[in-house]
Amino acid sequence: MSNKSLSADAACFEGGTSAAATGKRGLWSSRLMFILAATGSAVGLGNIWKFPYITGENGGGAFVLLYLGCIAIIGIPLLMAEILIGRRGGRNPAGSMEVLAQEAGVSSRWKLLGWAGVITGFVLLSFYLVVAGWAVSYIFTAGSGAFNGATSDDIGGLFGGLVSDPVASTAWGTIVLAITATIIIKGVKQGLEKAVSIMMPGLFVILLLLVGYSVSTGYFGQGVEFMFNSDFSKLTGTSVLIALGHAFFSLSLAGGGMMTYGSYLSKDVSLGKTVMTVGVLDTVVALIAGLAIFPIVFANGLEPGAGPGLIFVTLPLAFGQMPFGQIVGVLFFVMLSFAALTSAISLLEPAVSWMTEKRGMSRLKAGVLTSAGIWVLSLGSVFSFNIWQNYTLFGKTFFDTLDYLTSGWIMPLSGLAMAIFTGWIMTRAATHEEVGDGWGYRIWRFLIRYIVPVGILAVFLHAIGALD
Ligand code: TRP
Repeated sequence: MSNKSLSADAACFEGGTSAAATGKRGLWSSRLMFILAATGSAVGLGNIWKFPYITGENGGGAFVLLYLGCIAIIGIPLLMAEILIGRRGGRNPAGSMEVLAQEAGVSSRWKLLGWAGVITGFVLLSFYLVVAGWAVSYIFTAGSGAFNGATSDDIGGLFGGLVSDPVASTAWGTIVLAITATIIIKGVKQGLEKAVSIMMPGLFVILLLLVGYSVSTGYFGQGVEFMFNSDFSKLTGTSVLIALGHAFFSLSLAGGGMMTYGSYLSKDVSLGKTVMTVGVLDTVVALIAGLAIFPIVFANGLEPGAGPGLIFVTLPLAFGQMPFGQIVGVLFFVMLSFAALTSAISLLEPAVSWMTEKRGMSRLKAGVLTSAGIWVLSLGSVFSFNIWQNYTLFGKTFFDTLDYLTSGWIMPLSGLAMAIFTGWIMTRAATHEEVGDGWGYRIWRFLIRYIVPVGILAVFLHAIGALD
């Protein structure tokens, strides 16, 4: 490496240090706060919107088992790797990777991996906020009584009307982005902690109320049966891809958020139990969301395999036919909005932490600038459902293309790189110091060195068509 690039690296290394020294970085006040924030990041549209509908499309129980396997042997080890990098590096994702590459004596180009996280978070947020906007708007649609006694055409029309209206969709997305940015600008303790300590308990309480309601429909057994009765004949090769891709998405892997949240975690917390707690909570919420949703769907004689419209069309149809449906509908969409907002903040924080540390900006300026960029990019996703729906690249709209590039390529490759970095490049002593002692560490190290890379590679090669 040339001297020039070495000194440039040293300069930004110092930039990171001085930001840390001037106290721009916050730290979580407690381990619980980290758990709430990281679980808030993990639990999102992925759990409540996507998991139930892909389970429905892939036939139920067998897919759920496959997903649980992906979470346990690939997802949770990687979550540990990502949080470990952040905690040990103690900076924004690019800065942390640079510090750790230096510690391990390898090329500072590894900071590209941190960059990939920052960029992925930025791009993901641009389309995540579109769906989050629909969720927020549905609080009001449900509250207005619009679902009461409505036919399936009426309800399809309501959703179609929202999605196909570029102005309404942009407005709701803007509201979500504005709330997200406001929380971020206030900082770790005043913003993020306050937000998650209201929204996460709120989300758990509403989820339990909804399960209680779904038990009262008398169709709970049928929901359980659908989610846990494994019919492996319904699984295909693509089910494996979908399950692994979703494990990544649901645990917020490779989007910079977990790395950044890890960097705010105090050194004296042992990572083992903390990371397991987050992984298990995320999975439990997805399962419970399914158990809340499917009985309501079955009780009204509706189809579980309705795809992305499951919670925006099928479920509202059910709310419109049921006792207390109007209240239950409002609660459901409040819960979905909480889930989406606590994830959105983890998608914005990596870019903001990078700008404050590396560029020395205030959180206000960094928050406004990044949000402005994300807002512009989000227009492409909003328009993918209306005025640009016929503009496609390889048959994909702008929204689908961003989703495909991030979830299909950047995230699996970043996951692979994180496994190699923490399993093979960092020393055993370094990772051991972060994870803590015991059999948990040995299992983690075995999984991250062998199983995770091989697993991701196999799924990835299959996805691009090299394996069949
Ligand atoms: N995990 C969130 C969900 O399930 C989405 C999310 C937040 C995310 N941060 C991320 C996905 C980082 C990938 C990477 O909705």
